[in-house]
Amino acid sequence: MEETLVLVKPDGVARGLTGEIIARFERRGLQIAGLKMLRLSRAQAEKHYEEHTGKPFFAGLVDFITSGPLVAMVVRGESAVKVVRSMMGATNPVEAAPGTIRGEFALAMSRNVIHGSDSVQSAKREISLFFGEHEVLK
Ligand code: CMP
Repeated sequence: MEETLVLVKPDGVARGLTGEIIARFERRGLQIAGLKMLRLSRAQAEKHYEEHTGKPFFAGLVDFITSGPLVAMVVRGESAVKVVRSMMGATNPVEAAPGTIRGEFALAMSRNVIHGSDSVQSAKREISLFFGEHEVLK
């Protein structure tokens, strides 16, 4: 079984999409193994997005992800990293296939509703930034 970190970003939370997103994962057969709502500090956001440090959109990305509450979850299941990425759709919502989360609910790269880890290795790192060991169901 694999685990991945999913964030419903501040735009997704503000638009009331959290329930819809969780329902999609559950209906697919994935398990929600950890769940919390929080507002990120700039330091936490910079750590989470450290691979993007120095890119032109980095400051805007940190501004946006710290702008309001987000929902973080650990999603568990067979090939969870890949399955969640395919359910989210392309990072640029304009290219996201219809029926995917971004393909249904987003239009702008900077407000693309959801984040999902891009590899098993990133998932481990990202989950440890958001969840303590005892906050994730065994
Ligand atoms: P996410 O999957 O959270 O990972 C990094 C985020 O940076 C990405 O979703 C987008 O929201 C954002 N992003 C990536 N590339 C760009 C870009 N060229 N311009 C603005 N935002 C971007």
